Amino acid sequence: MSGPAASPKVLIIGSGAAGLTCALKLARHGIASTVVSKAQLESGATLWAQGGISAVFDENDSLEAHVRDTLVAGAGLCQDEAVRFTVERGPGVVRWLQESGVDFTRESGADGKLHLTREGGHSHRRVVHAADSTGHAVETTLAGLAAANPLIQVRERTISLDLILDEQRKRVIGAYLYDRRTKRVDAVPAQCVVLASGGANQVYLYSSNPFGASGDGIAMAWRAGCRIANMEFMQFHPTILYNPGLTNSGLTNSGGNGGSSVPAQGARSFLISEALRGEGAVLRLPTTGERFMPRFDAREELAPRDVVARAIDHEMKRLGLSHVHLDISHKDASFIEEHFPSIHAHCAALGLDITRQPIPVVPAAHFTCGGVLTDLAGRTDVEGLYAAGETACTGLHGANRLASNSILECLVFGEAVADNIADSLLVMPPMQELRPWDESRVSHSDEDVVVSHNWLELRTFMWDYVGIVRTTKRLVRALNRITLLQQEIQDFYGNYRVDHHLIELRNLAACADLIVRSALARHESRGLHYTLDYPQTLAQAVPTILPGRVLGIGAR
Ligand code: SIN
Repeated sequence: MSGPAASPKVLIIGSGAAGLTCALKLARHGIASTVVSKAQLESGATLWAQGGISAVFDENDSLEAHVRDTLVAGAGLCQDEAVRFTVERGPGVVRWLQESGVDFTRESGADGKLHLTREGGHSHRRVVHAADSTGHAVETTLAGLAAANPLIQVRERTISLDLILDEQRKRVIGAYLYDRRTKRVDAVPAQCVVLASGGANQVYLYSSNPFGASGDGIAMAWRAGCRIANMEFMQFHPTILYNPGLTNSGLTNSGGNGGSSVPAQGARSFLISEALRGEGAVLRLPTTGERFMPRFDAREELAPRDVVARAIDHEMKRLGLSHVHLDISHKDASFIEEHFPSIHAHCAALGLDITRQPIPVVPAAHFTCGGVLTDLAGRTDVEGLYAAGETACTGLHGANRLASNSILECLVFGEAVADNIADSLLVMPPMQELRPWDESRVSHSDEDVVVSHNWLELRTFMWDYVGIVRTTKRLVRALNRITLLQQEIQDFYGNYRVDHHLIELRNLAACADLIVRSALARHESRGLHYTLDYPQTLAQAVPTILPGRVLGIGAR
């Protein structure tokens, strides 16, 4: 295999589990890459993930059962091939993480088997975890390895703005990157670009995600002409801590939280892992203490997320509640402290003892099931352009992602992309000269407040009109507002120097548009998409595929 000097230039946008896996696997092939991170290397949604990685390790479990559970959660819309491809590679990627140094929780006892927890929609104990901070363990380990690898170059505090295509608009030849320190846009050539920048969950006012989840990869791929699939399936996690002492309003902080590795917290952003329900926590009405899930689904608290989030939403609206209760206080205090140390400590710092008191929770936006349409090698519609992890729509999640299948997908497809790039080495065209970013006709904006206002407006009406339960009238109302916002954003984008807030707002507005148009195109309720105007599920499950825009990218 060739050394770094002869290697193709691979640009990886995003430094979560998918991006870092891809970079490390490329390095194993002897291929150099540059990983672009909006904040510091260790950042993004992976860092925040609590639950774990689903993979078949229990002797009573089977790959077939994991496939079946994924298909059931996906409500008829998963691609069977993608599900099998991912599930079969589960045990292997977990072993790779162990060899890389991730210290997963083990059973107490001499044989040191992996401790497997359970989450909603899983028929078996199948979730490999590092207590309740699995994402942190995975991200810090992979980031440490990447930082030490001479074949991996890291560009921190850098946001990608748009992809650059060749003259025939067939192949990606680079990307425009905005450096938050120098406030300059560079045209960076590349032979391949991997979009691994996560989902678009900050399109909603309340989200479990870090602020950087602004759908950059999805929006860039769409502007480059890629097809985008299933964007109406935005997953709301049922149990986010309800902390009325904090607010979620205002301009976001671009995934970096000012460079700190401690996530900034809003009123509804701290996840209370589904693993609590897996270990016996129950949902109750704060008014009467009634356990309400048995009224909604035979699987009770362990029904798939769409079912549980909808049940909570229903009860909150029916009774005018600000939250419901999640109660694990019937378990031993020592069990809770051992299995959920971070959640226990976080709540304790707010004066809540979860070993004795119920936890106030609400649903919030958590995961983007749709994204850039790819094949099983992560290839998109544009040559040389790949997508992996939450940015991509591989067909694994269908209409609703099964719990703990997300980091699994990042690892499996991060590797698949690296393998495909390694296989394509010989046929890759050389790097091309790029047209620089043109700032000659633009000025500094003195209207930052408008960008900040637009951020808040977009996220608020998406929450109000495009949430857990939808109607056509509300979707149309949202689309009208998005159209107006996009005109204003385009005006800013064309006439003023860009900054990271404007870049993210532009991407979020593009994703909001894709979400709403996909939702309007679906005349049924399925999985995460529930509309009062079409409450029935049609016999045939058909994905929603929107064509790429093919206009409006590149240098100004
Ligand atoms: C959780 O711990 O509840 C989240 C895990 C996931 O999103 O799959």
